[in-house]
Amino acid sequence: MNKSKLIKKGNLYYPTKEFKKRALLNSSKIYLEAAKNPIKFWEKLAKELFWQKKWKKAFLHNPPYFKWFVGGKLNITENCLDRNLEKKKNKVAFIWEPEPTGERERYFTYYDLYREVNKLANALKKLGVKKGDRVGIYLPMIPEVIISMLACARIGAIHVVVFSAFSSQALNIRLQDTKAKILITSDGYYRRGKVINLKQNADKGVNGTEVKKIIVVRRTGNEVFWQKNRDFWWEELVKNEKDFCPPATMDSEDTLFILYTSGSTGKPKGVVHTSGGYMVQANFTAKWIFDLKEDDIFWSMADVGWVTGHTYSCYGPLLAGTTFVIFEGAPDWPAPDRWAQIIEKYGVTTFYTAPTAIRMFEKYGADLIKKYKFDTLQILGSVGEPIDTAAWKWYFKKVGKERCPIVDTWWQTETGGILITSLPGIGPFKPAFTGIPFPGLKFDILDDKGKSLPAGKEGNLVLLPPFAPSLLRGVYKNPKKYLKTYWSEYGNKIYFTSDTAYKDKNGLIRIVGRVDDVIKVAGHRITTGELENAIAQHPDITESAVVGVHDEIKGEVPVAFVVSKEKKKEKDIEKEVKEEIRKVIGPIALPKKVYVVPDLPKTRSGKIMRRILRKLFTGEELGDLSTLANPESVKKIKEIIAK
Ligand code: WTA
Repeated sequence: MNKSKLIKKGNLYYPTKEFKKRALLNSSKIYLEAAKNPIKFWEKLAKELFWQKKWKKAFLHNPPYFKWFVGGKLNITENCLDRNLEKKKNKVAFIWEPEPTGERERYFTYYDLYREVNKLANALKKLGVKKGDRVGIYLPMIPEVIISMLACARIGAIHVVVFSAFSSQALNIRLQDTKAKILITSDGYYRRGKVINLKQNADKGVNGTEVKKIIVVRRTGNEVFWQKNRDFWWEELVKNEKDFCPPATMDSEDTLFILYTSGSTGKPKGVVHTSGGYMVQANFTAKWIFDLKEDDIFWSMADVGWVTGHTYSCYGPLLAGTTFVIFEGAPDWPAPDRWAQIIEKYGVTTFYTAPTAIRMFEKYGADLIKKYKFDTLQILGSVGEPIDTAAWKWYFKKVGKERCPIVDTWWQTETGGILITSLPGIGPFKPAFTGIPFPGLKFDILDDKGKSLPAGKEGNLVLLPPFAPSLLRGVYKNPKKYLKTYWSEYGNKIYFTSDTAYKDKNGLIRIVGRVDDVIKVAGHRITTGELENAIAQHPDITESAVVGVHDEIKGEVPVAFVVSKEKKKEKDIEKEVKEEIRKVIGPIALPKKVYVVPDLPKTRSGKIMRRILRKLFTGEELGDLSTLANPESVKKIKEIIAK
């Protein structure tokens, strides 16, 4: 057990000798080696995994498209499961912690998981699912969600996971866009002690889609509507299936999954990830960044509905052959220290969460966690939004006891895996700085003209060729959007992240934030346009503008400004607008406040000036308002906010 504190030099922290000795990587030579020839470097890593057939060419660039491990054949589940049966057959792959505290946890060994996945894979085949078909997965954090993803991958079907707290409309859009014919869901799930009837949402969500069959996991036992020949209980489907299903042969560039995320417009886009490159990146980022060794217990708190759940609560840790924890519930329920109890209960060694959660834990007060020594913890991780210095320090001191490096990991749904962070056995770690690019990656920070900026200067963060094996290969059925969003700002050979950042003199990167309309609410990615679209469905609202404003706990939260044609009480409008958003997107997107205003500030050409609305909350200078078509609107809005 590692008992000594990290070494502090100025405002940088370094791992101790003792820590380094045990770490998988402990010398910065790896960066030099990788930089010499990144393609060769990734090839060398890829060789450590199992391929049915080796690739012919490692990297092929045809801007804005590129391929990795061209001609290689594989099945990711052979690497997650079959390969681990050799030496880790009876090792626990994951532990599932249910939300109700009275319910027993469940353990799945690699052998258990292997059999469950193969059975479901066979059942899916019987239902007519073929390679390349899309399968919707609308499940909470229960073991079946992992089994479902892997069963799809086993037969080469493309999984489309939809966050279980998304509304039926959000589900519907994703099922329509992908033309999924099968949906896997559950009767319900637990959230803060309540049973949520998920099947009801699923029934609504499949309306008007091509879904012909629904597989239902029995989780809560609540009553559900049942349509014969369409709905099937999971347990009955898999009961008599064989526990081996031959793995489909996937081309390295075949799609593994599509995951929808918010972009710069109101419509979510389907981010396409492929099999080979994603596998290599998921494996090595999980293993090296979380330093996963034989006896580690890794817990990433994110839901599989988000990319973090895909890569670090399923593929990454399984590829690395580690033991990980998944948790059904909220980290502060039924007690605010539930998360700490879980760390203690399972002896978690690596804990990965978001700054919002860290700030929430902090808010509950130091007394709450005084009794926890957290002495199994070795590494702490942060993801999803910039972590502020205060939260970093609290996490470092109160949870990590100054012994645990904090890996602040920067990445995106589009990148499929972590791309920037300091490595735990190498460092350095600096509060509020994410670190340096993972070995084999080339980032730069550019000004608007494309000039590389020196340390201290803020600009756009970009990724340079050969990019990353796990970078997205497309936006589903929307090549124009792919080109426009990622490959237009600086030409089609430079990947534009939509984040601004700067470097310090040591080359450590500090992420400042998004340049587009994406806001990160509690680490969840939403766009203002999506919210405005939802609000527009309210019959009385003629116009709306949503902006992200700073929030002490959640980092950012949306606030909405609406113009209503009906004279109603403000409270009622606020309630109805929120209801609309809950219906179209889900509860995570609810605005903190809805302001009913007579008019929104606009340019003469009619463009709503969201920037001005945002500034009303930051206290920044509003600038010259005379170019607006209706400058007086700003004064009125100011008065309304002040009220
Ligand atoms: C932000 C989440 C600062 C960033 C994995 C990015 C971060 C967006 C960090 C992607 C971090 C993610 N520090 N900001 N460590 N990690 N972000 O697609 O703005 O949900 O572009 O992927 O989150 O969000 P997404």
